[in-house]
Amino acid sequence: MKSVRLGIIGGGLMGREVASALGRWFALTDVPVRMELTAVCDVQEGVREWFRKVPTVRLLTADYHELLDSPEVDVVYVAVPHHLHERIYLDVLAAGKDLFAEKPFGMDLAAAQAIRDGARESGRFVRCSSEFPFLPAAQKAWQFLRKTDIGKLLEIRSGFWHGSDLDPAKPINWKRQNQFCGEIGVMGDLGMHAVHLPFRLGYRPSNVFAQLQKVYTERPDGKGGMAVCDTWDNALLHCELQVDGKNVPMRIETKRLAPGEMNTWYLEVLGTERGVRFSTKEPKTLWLFDRKREQVWERYDVGQGSSGFGVVTGGIFEAGFPDCFLQMWAAFAVEREGLLGERFGCVTPEEAVASHELFAATLRSHAEKRAVNLG
Ligand SMILES: NC(=O)c1ccc[n+]([C@@H]2O[C@H](COP(=O)([O-])OP(=O)(O)OC[C@H]3O[C@@H](n4cnc5c(N)ncnc54)[C@H](O)[C@@H]3O)[C@@H](O)[C@H]2O)c1
Repeated sequence: MKSVRLGIIGGGLMGREVASALGRWFALTDVPVRMELTAVCDVQEGVREWFRKVPTVRLLTADYHELLDSPEVDVVYVAVPHHLHERIYLDVLAAGKDLFAEKPFGMDLAAAQAIRDGARESGRFVRCSSEFPFLPAAQKAWQFLRKTDIGKLLEIRSGFWHGSDLDPAKPINWKRQNQFCGEIGVMGDLGMHAVHLPFRLGYRPSNVFAQLQKVYTERPDGKGGMAVCDTWDNALLHCELQVDGKNVPMRIETKRLAPGEMNTWYLEVLGTERGVRFSTKEPKTLWLFDRKREQVWERYDVGQGSSGFGVVTGGIFEAGFPDCFLQMWAAFAVEREGLLGERFGCVTPEEAVASHELFAATLRSHAEKRAVNLG
């Protein structure tokens, strides 16, 4: 089996998640390539040390240029704060490596466009991370929506909710400061999760009216003082799509202050005849609406058997975050080989730029208190 060698830049929360996913690669049954982690770069020594437990890692470095110079790296996954995305992503491409980027694909629209252009010019294979649509029930929802006539499209809702920022004593981190996270704040963190599947289904908004909230403006700095917390906490995006000459409402929500929510993505697509409802709060439950003689919401219990890529895990067993993360990596590896076929793929550079176009229009809408058209 062909081996693809991966280097990680940024070994924090997500870097470790990737190492763990690749460590379970053998659970995939129909992926004709193997990905192995060979090199890791992080500026923090303690973070680098953790990767010593991964037997395939041969290079640990604090300087990402050293990782990019390594002939033992084919693909680079970058998971660093957002203000570093553009520089590092472009350096990866200039080094002749393929790129698995983390969202939001640059801290703003200009950065996302520059990365997309760099990807085109380099000819390298580039995709962006967004794992939740790879859950088996979400895959079933995607298959249903692309193949079924749901009647006249009534409404789309997709949102991503966190709740831990409700605690004012939660210490600050880079994700809560514009200079590191970007002016788009919570949308940079959570927006890609909310738009990936709607965009892939062709639901592209033509305008947006936004409501943004900053609730906690400072947080403990972890050293006994307080630090400025200037990112948007919650963002409600009231959008419209044009379908058959008519406006269809689409609401995208990204919230850090959502009471009772740990890490919830939900999707609802309603038509006059059929509909779909899914939430990661009930990750193995898919609801499908059918307007028969009576109106019916059918509840499907979905196991790993509906995953996009086969796994040794029993088909009836339930899936969680590590499973959809592994599926996303399988999709990256298989699409890179040109073998994805009809299966669901990772976020493309064009989709990532489209998400930034929406978020940039959102900022303008909120500032000007009006609906803003999208190209
Ligand atoms: N796909 C998802 O579900 C998901 C979830 C969380 C975060 N993310 C994204 O992943 C990225 C990283 O987030 P995280 O939560 O892992 O952050 P993190 O703070 O846990 O990790 C970032 C790491 O980058 C390292 N770093 C910073 N500057 C560096 C440099 N110049 N060279 C090498 N390493 C450097 C830091 O030391 C840190 O270990 C962000 O883009 C974030 O939006 C994605």
